[in-house]
Amino acid sequence: MPALLFAPYTMRDLTLANRIVVSPMAQYSATPEGHATPWHLMHVGNLAVCGAGLVIMEATAVEPRGRVSSRCLGLWTDAQAEALRPVVEFCRAQGEAALGIQLAHAGRKGSVDRPWEGNGNLPPEAGGWQPVSSCDLAYPGRPVPQMLTTEEMAGIKASFVAAARRADALGFDLIELHAAHGYLLNCFLSPLANARNDAYGGDLLGRMRWPLEVFAALRAAWPAGKPIGVRISATDWAEGGWDLDDSVAFARALKAQGCDYVTASSGGISAAQAIRVEPGYQLPYARRIQQEAGIAAMAVGLLHEPDLAETALQDGAAELIALGRGMMWEPRWPWHAAEALGATASFPPQYARSHPSMRFGDPGKAFAERRR
Ligand SMILES: Cc1cc2nc3c(=O)[nH]c(=O)nc-3n(C[C@H](O)[C@H](O)[C@H](O)COP(=O)(O)O)c2cc1C
Repeated sequence: MPALLFAPYTMRDLTLANRIVVSPMAQYSATPEGHATPWHLMHVGNLAVCGAGLVIMEATAVEPRGRVSSRCLGLWTDAQAEALRPVVEFCRAQGEAALGIQLAHAGRKGSVDRPWEGNGNLPPEAGGWQPVSSCDLAYPGRPVPQMLTTEEMAGIKASFVAAARRADALGFDLIELHAAHGYLLNCFLSPLANARNDAYGGDLLGRMRWPLEVFAALRAAWPAGKPIGVRISATDWAEGGWDLDDSVAFARALKAQGCDYVTASSGGISAAQAIRVEPGYQLPYARRIQQEAGIAAMAVGLLHEPDLAETALQDGAAELIALGRGMMWEPRWPWHAAEALGATASFPPQYARSHPSMRFGDPGKAFAERRR
């Protein structure tokens, strides 16, 4: 059977050349104004020409308080959109990958230094800001967040919509809503972080209410032909936390609202989380969500072995395979996976001669053969 990893996949009007997705990865390399820099052009541009079907740009904040660090990308101003334009245009002109962007709000985990600067709290007097959340429960070691009022929640929802409109105008093919890893939307979903006693807290329905409202607003504003996915933490890995049954219920509700896929990540809400990390450790979450909620799952998390990725698709655990660290370590992973699985992946003509079969002989002939 031909490799499923390299079979096209269609969501609405978007057809991906294959099932390989570059997972969103924050680079902490924007200007203090949240503008993309040459780093993003190099990083995303490189990933876009390496044969993946879809590249999803990093968590991009929809308002200033939504950044993790003060060097995270933002999309709440037109100037930020203009700074992203060269990245999008390069990918469009040079790569065959579809391009997505992850829209995010850091919530109570915002206002910290960059990881390589220690990841410490960044108080307002040092260029940081007062973090906000579903309630005033702090993440251990982080400042007490300000609980959002319903008026402020409406403002943030509008910021998500405004960012989506800018992303559409820039030409992004897809958005992924970040509802995982302990950030703002996750802090509404998880009982470990949401102690509200209004309509947006309490039982599962209450805790899902605002994330679903944000999704619905995005879906209404984003073109009908373009897909939207949602990244969730399928389990908190902690006693009394959000679990896989909750994730299946959430995925069903998202599907009913027109969500195209759910990315099954995990953790990030509780310092007490006990994660067991091994190859494919989050695959069981993708499988259950896809099979029980009937929505396409994007699997992620140590799926860097081509055979493991392929088996996950063949087994019906997921429709899409996202790679993060594996793509940073080896951006040409799709080419090598294609070799391993007897398939082909797109490559820029400038690099045609790098293929092992073309390092000897007539380069013109080799190039023509490779294109066939
Ligand atoms: C440097 C780095 C930055 C990341 N930034 C994001 C992000 O912006 N949004 C997100 O949802 N996940 C982020 N992640 C998580 C990855 O997308 C991915 O889910 C995780 O690394 C597990 O997949 P992997 O084993 O293929 O790396 C980041 C991971 C790394 C290593």
